[in-house]
Amino acid sequence: MKALLLSFGFGLVAVLQAQEFPDTEEIQDVTGTWYIKATASDKEIPEELESVSVTPMTITALEGGNLQVNFTALIVDRCREVSFVLEKTDKPDKYTVDGGTHVLYVMPSAVKDHYIFNWESKNHAFQFRLAKLLGRDPDINQEALEDFRNAARVAGLNAEKIFIPKQSETCSLRGN
Ligand SMILES: *[C@@H]1O[C@H](CO)[C@@H](O)[C@H](O)[C@H]1NC(C)=O
Repeated sequence: MKALLLSFGFGLVAVLQAQEFPDTEEIQDVTGTWYIKATASDKEIPEELESVSVTPMTITALEGGNLQVNFTALIVDRCREVSFVLEKTDKPDKYTVDGGTHVLYVMPSAVKDHYIFNWESKNHAFQFRLAKLLGRDPDINQEALEDFRNAARVAGLNAEKIFIPKQSETCSLRGN
């Protein structure tokens, strides 16, 4: 369940692992605040998780090149703090979590100020792949969404079932 929450909350996948960055100078700074705009997966996203709302995600640089990721998600009527470390690897676009249980590939979107995070869980109990569209502002950008849909399709994810979370600045329980 933890892996499930981690991934649907954060939701990334290593779809395009075959696709290396042509130029490491293309890698930009992914630290700062991001809005999680869309998620695609190779698995069915459980219906109760589809009501998920998320706060902006903060990525901060740790010493040595690792990245700290923090955000909260409202999942099944509970605010959950999601926090984990992206461990750097010898490839600038590739990170691992939990010593390799999860692999993340970071890819710039075709649209400025957007990124696609591709996440692959190699957890033996539950393997899956996810992709997330991240943007610097909370508004839905149709071009970025279309680009994301194409990337998801190419990666073999379910491009017809893209989940768009609700944006909120703070996590507050429904009905409050
Ligand atoms: C992220 O979460 C961790 C663990 O809860 C905490 O120690 C850290 O201060 C948080 N960082 C930010 C930038 O919020």
